[in-house]
Amino acid sequence: MTDQFRFDDRVVVITGAGAGLGRSHALDFARRGAKVVVNDLGGGGHGEGRGSEAADRVVEEIRSGGGEAVANYDSVEQGENIIRTALDNYDRVDVVVNNAGILRDSSFAKMTDEDWDLIYRVHALGAYKVTKAAWPVMLEQGYGRIVNTASAAGIYGNFGQANYAFAKRGLIGFTNTLALEGAKKGIKANVIAPVAGSRLTETILPREVVEALKPEFVTPLVVRLCAEESQENGSLFEVGAGWVSKLRWERSQGAFFDPDRELTAEAIDEAWDRIGDFSDAQRPKSIQDTFTPVFGNLGIKL
Ligand SMILES: NC(=O)c1ccc[n+]([C@@H]2O[C@H](COP(=O)([O-])OP(=O)(O)OC[C@H]3O[C@@H](n4cnc5c(N)ncnc54)[C@H](O)[C@@H]3O)[C@@H](O)[C@H]2O)c1
Repeated sequence: MTDQFRFDDRVVVITGAGAGLGRSHALDFARRGAKVVVNDLGGGGHGEGRGSEAADRVVEEIRSGGGEAVANYDSVEQGENIIRTALDNYDRVDVVVNNAGILRDSSFAKMTDEDWDLIYRVHALGAYKVTKAAWPVMLEQGYGRIVNTASAAGIYGNFGQANYAFAKRGLIGFTNTLALEGAKKGIKANVIAPVAGSRLTETILPREVVEALKPEFVTPLVVRLCAEESQENGSLFEVGAGWVSKLRWERSQGAFFDPDRELTAEAIDEAWDRIGDFSDAQRPKSIQDTFTPVFGNLGIKL
């Protein structure tokens, strides 16, 4: 690793970069020499309205600091337009940070189809559309860095966020698959679950907490993951307030039952403690780690 990560001649696309985390990412990448596409729909925190001011303001901030940036005002649902802005202006796409987001919180009992669809469209479909448009460019270049923005709600679930948790958890599986498919092509994909003070959290956290949780505590991890020097791939991090942590799966050894005998709910019940016993847990890393015990129990060697 070098002392200073530089992004000279790199083209960085950041969605939802008109405020909060995305703005902080855009400013840091630009400071490090990147040409930045500042995408922002410029609407409200619940998906209402649109406007060009948010993206324009950040582009102006970057340019006045001597950096290079261009604005895009499309919704991430039109990801192809965002990537076209990068290609039309700078001819490449080296980094995609899928960051745009809104909330439509409500208990599941009260959640409407519209709440569900809108959150799916912005967080899941949006990340898909932007990445789908960038992917062939990255394959062709033999180089790419992708960071998707999930949430602790997607990892653990959160009261009132069934729609958001669903979409955010989807991004984790999406990222892991991109990491596998991009591995031999110079593309690395990782996912973060940040905590930061922003428009999305100012209504649920006290003001002094929002002010202390600076987005600038999250951006350095994104920059580190997108550096050319970084070999990190397919990883999930929690990050915020000066804390950075990597997550992994833990799996109990589990219980094995004779596949030649009928398996009953009662037999599973008898083994319940063993099924949930994490004292000598495994740390599965790939789908092969699922196939090994499954086929092993059938006596099939892979
Ligand atoms: N702030 C947190 O603690 C936190 C926690 C977990 C996850 N996140 C995620 O981090 C990301 C950034 O959130 P933030 O806290 O900086 O919020 P923010 O509201 O400050 O920024 C999000 C930006 O995305 C833009 N945006 C919304 N919908 C868009 C669309 N369809 N197309 C393009 N741009 C759009 C908004 O205009 C806004 O400028 C989101 O994906 C959010 O879900 C944030």
